[in-house]
Amino acid sequence: MHIEDDSSRINKYNYYSLLCGYVGMCMFLYGFFLVNFSSVEHSETCNEANEENNSLRIRPPKTDKIVIMVIDALRYDFLVDDDIVKNMPFTRTLISGNNTCVFPCRVQLPTVTMPRIKALTMGMIPNFFDIVLNFGSTRLFQDNILKQMFKAGKKIVFYGDDTWIKLFPDLFYRYEGTTSFFVTDFVEVDYNVTKNVDKEITHNDWDVMILHYLGLDHIGHLEGPKSLKIPSKLQEMDAVINKLIHYLSNWVK
Ligand SMILES: *[C@@H]1O[C@H](CO)[C@@H](O)[C@H](O)[C@H]1NC(C)=O
Ligand SMILES: *[C@@H]1O[C@H](CO)[C@@H](O)[C@H](O)[C@H]1NC(C)=O
Ligand SMILES: *[C@@H]1O[C@H](CO)[C@@H](O)[C@H](O)[C@H]1NC(C)=O
Repeated sequence: MHIEDDSSRINKYNYYSLLCGYVGMCMFLYGFFLVNFSSVEHSETCNEANEENNSLRIRPPKTDKIVIMVIDALRYDFLVDDDIVKNMPFTRTLISGNNTCVFPCRVQLPTVTMPRIKALTMGMIPNFFDIVLNFGSTRLFQDNILKQMFKAGKKIVFYGDDTWIKLFPDLFYRYEGTTSFFVTDFVEVDYNVTKNVDKEITHNDWDVMILHYLGLDHIGHLEGPKSLKIPSKLQEMDAVINKLIHYLSNWVK
């Protein structure tokens, strides 16, 4: 009798721990492969906000053109550490002036390209499942800022990492992708982008220009942040920033 009691108690414990393990595993898998049940609805551009509530009224834009330049792997200390930022003299004067804001942000894993672009454009929490999808990037269906720009009739030009083109295949007015597959390529990935910047600043027909430079990231991957190639790459980026700011501030409609 006594023995039976004991063994049935053990069975009970086994049962509970098995159940706990099972529930725990399900919760882990749910978190790890979290599928986003995000809405595929899109907000209506401007009109909705304007009608409903005056305090939400969208003000007319203060600028006619926007350039969004992504320099992949540009660390925060590259901009604030005096020894490094001296390679970016123009950017340094911008930062010490009044019109520039240096804003460090902490990113969540996974820090691979596609989930990060999604986070930038959608404001979405990334998930690990995106790593799996990173190499077969698929079109982004959820609402995002590029789509809203497109709906508002803005012409978007894009140059850089071709992941953007896979995510937003029909939003760009003009574009050219560079392939991020060859990590050993430090020069051509950026040359191909800058070449197009030079062309675009002679055109006046676009509203938004998005650039994604990969060279610095490639150097970082292969040689680390102390690489001797970094200073010259930062100088190259500085020259592009200089060119763009010069163009935008002299731009006349
Ligand atoms: C408009 O929105 C603001 C902020 O959400 C709110 O305080 C205000 O009461 C709203 N006004 C109307 C008329 O709904
Ligand atoms: C920045 O703005 C402040 C206050 O408006 C002014 O005193 C200062 O001279 C400005 N600095 C530069 C570098 O323009
Ligand atoms: C850069 O552009 C050239 C010419 O269009 C192309 O052949 C080459 O593959 C491009 N390089 C990269 C890294 O995309």
